[in-house]
Amino acid sequence: MSTLQGTGRLAGKTIIVTGAAHGIGRAYAERIANEGAWTVAIDQDGPALEGVWSGIEAAGGKGFARRVDVRDFPALQAVAKDAAAHSGRIDGAVNNAGMMAIIPMSRALFEDITEEEWDFMFDENIKSVWNCCRAWTPYMKDGQGGSIVNVSSSTYFRSLETRSHYVATKAAVIGFSRVIARELGKYWIRVNCIAPGSTLSEENPSPEVVQMRTDPVARRALKRVEKPVDLVGTAVFLLSEDSEYMTGQTLIVEGGGVVR
Ligand SMILES: NC(=O)c1ccc[n+]([C@@H]2O[C@H](COP(=O)([O-])OP(=O)(O)OC[C@H]3O[C@@H](n4cnc5c(N)ncnc54)[C@H](O)[C@@H]3O)[C@@H](O)[C@H]2O)c1
Repeated sequence: MSTLQGTGRLAGKTIIVTGAAHGIGRAYAERIANEGAWTVAIDQDGPALEGVWSGIEAAGGKGFARRVDVRDFPALQAVAKDAAAHSGRIDGAVNNAGMMAIIPMSRALFEDITEEEWDFMFDENIKSVWNCCRAWTPYMKDGQGGSIVNVSSSTYFRSLETRSHYVATKAAVIGFSRVIARELGKYWIRVNCIAPGSTLSEENPSPEVVQMRTDPVARRALKRVEKPVDLVGTAVFLLSEDSEYMTGQTLIVEGGGVVR
């Protein structure tokens, strides 16, 4: 059974969540704070982030929220410095911000995607992950280890016509994560990915969007619509000591639509 209620599994850790103002990132931030982590929630949508953060604080969560664009490396470095000021280090991060509901993408055959949208997609979905990892890791290399969770997509495993740019970036997230898992292993910094399925992350979905999120149910082993809360337990597992000998891996969380 899914629940937002935590049990303190991340107490004492400083954990950053990107894209925390909406959708799945919001659910990660709420649960991570509820698990006792000093939570740093960032997003480029300042007003929405403020609302989310008020709710987290009202529920007893600790940390801070800041409006930041994950394409802005110096701004991420400043966040990392301030996050580490709390306990001297950063223990984990969920690099979740990317294109989906809030910044929608067009559906187009690969030759019809505009160069502008292609480049924007790569900045948003993979350069941002590289930026985050190089901002966070200087504060994880003190021998105490750390855990980075990068967000990919199940669309890489099952492919998805008319979204070649999106799927290419989500494949890149996995490739990048596998390489840096090796590079960072000597510091016991673990790097894993979550690949969500089509998730009803929209806050006010139209009937068309609900239908789009319902269509994949037929090919799943677990037949229901995926919701943001379905992803959070996996993030907590990857951020906690329960996964301490696991790195370079991708967990597909989508009710068994892709069985590998
Ligand atoms: N919803 C799905 O079906 C689905 C499926 C697979 C993977 N994913 C991935 O999961 C992640 C979250 O998806 P979602 O559905 O919650 O998306 P969403 O659009 O609801 O939320 C994304 C959040 O990231 C923020 N954001 C976007 N670009 C940013 C930037 N440059 N700097 C800072 N913040 C930025 C947005 O403001 C928003 O709060 C994305 O990486 C997405 O690609 C989603």
